[in-house]
Amino acid sequence: MTVDDAVARLDGARTDALAAIGNASGLDELDALEREHLKGRGSAVSEVNEQIKSFAPEDRPRAGQAVGAYRAAVGEALTARRAELEAAAAADTRGRLDLTLGTHGRGRGHMHLITQIRRELEDIFLGLGYRVAEGPEVEDDWHNFEALNIPPAHPARSMQDTIYVALGADEQTLLRTHTSPVQIRTMETQPPPIYVVAPGRVYRNETLDARHSPAFHQLEGLAVDRGLTMADLFGTIEAFVRRLFDDESVRTRFRSDFFPYTEPSAELAVSCVFCGGSGCRVCSHTGWIELGGCGMVDPNVLQGVGIDPEEWQGFAFGFGLERIAMIRYGIDEIRTFFDNDVRFLEQY
Ligand code: FA5
Repeated sequence: MTVDDAVARLDGARTDALAAIGNASGLDELDALEREHLKGRGSAVSEVNEQIKSFAPEDRPRAGQAVGAYRAAVGEALTARRAELEAAAAADTRGRLDLTLGTHGRGRGHMHLITQIRRELEDIFLGLGYRVAEGPEVEDDWHNFEALNIPPAHPARSMQDTIYVALGADEQTLLRTHTSPVQIRTMETQPPPIYVVAPGRVYRNETLDARHSPAFHQLEGLAVDRGLTMADLFGTIEAFVRRLFDDESVRTRFRSDFFPYTEPSAELAVSCVFCGGSGCRVCSHTGWIELGGCGMVDPNVLQGVGIDPEEWQGFAFGFGLERIAMIRYGIDEIRTFFDNDVRFLEQY
């Protein structure tokens, strides 16, 4: 290689290097170009640099200046392009998480009104010595009806329109229409004395109106012990109502009713907390609001689960949780509980 060849080679290599550096689209690519055109062993500039010592002494300064000029030009181009690419990367915030950025803040959620009521009722009964029991929402015909003294074709079945999941000849599976099957499940698995409450969701094939929904919640209560009487049932419910409304003036009313699994049976109503019993829109001008049903467990039901009715007596009750919440807060539309409108729910 002559010194002219060397100078010409560096001119060509510089043109190529500057073009490639100008087109580099990323910092990694730029590092590779630096190795290829400036620092790498196989680059034109390093080969010419190696050759300098073989040139005639008078030619060496020219060759040395050409190498210096090449390094300066390519080095400057690399620095300038690196600055451009780094600025572009800093400006591109896509996909990056800026932990210093403030947030709009999220409100804290809270328990649904029905969950609050359920827990409050559980607490009241835990205070009276009860424990909480559970049962399945998908139930069989035996627990929901037959064991509760409601055989097939019994007219009482039409009192609660049932949603069936499977209607076979041998097996009938349904969505429980009340929490009373938990009474049976508890008595089947636990010897008396028994004091339980069973809160939960129940389903009925009913048309939605202001006070009735096809899915709602009940709280069942069951006590089985020696010597229990109607007075124990009434006393328990009155203690519960006093705690629930925290108001001595709220009165309870028991009226004769009919449930196939209790005898005698009663309907439980409380005096309207809005008008004090004089009659208003909330209580449909009757002065009373129905909360649920109750009664002494029918001896047939006890016998059916192997409990001797001569030795043990029981009482049971079932209240609607939406109904309790509606009375407490003057809510006149049951659908507001499950419309999931936070503007309604966050008030409670
Ligand atoms: C029963 O479900 C009985 N199992 C209660 C019972 C238990 C009686 C133990 C005796 C011994 P009833 O169908 O009346 O009874 O319902 C009880 C309460 O549930 C009602 O007073 C009402 O508060 C509520 N309720 C009934 N149907 C609906 C409905 N469709 N939507 C909302 N609440 C309802």
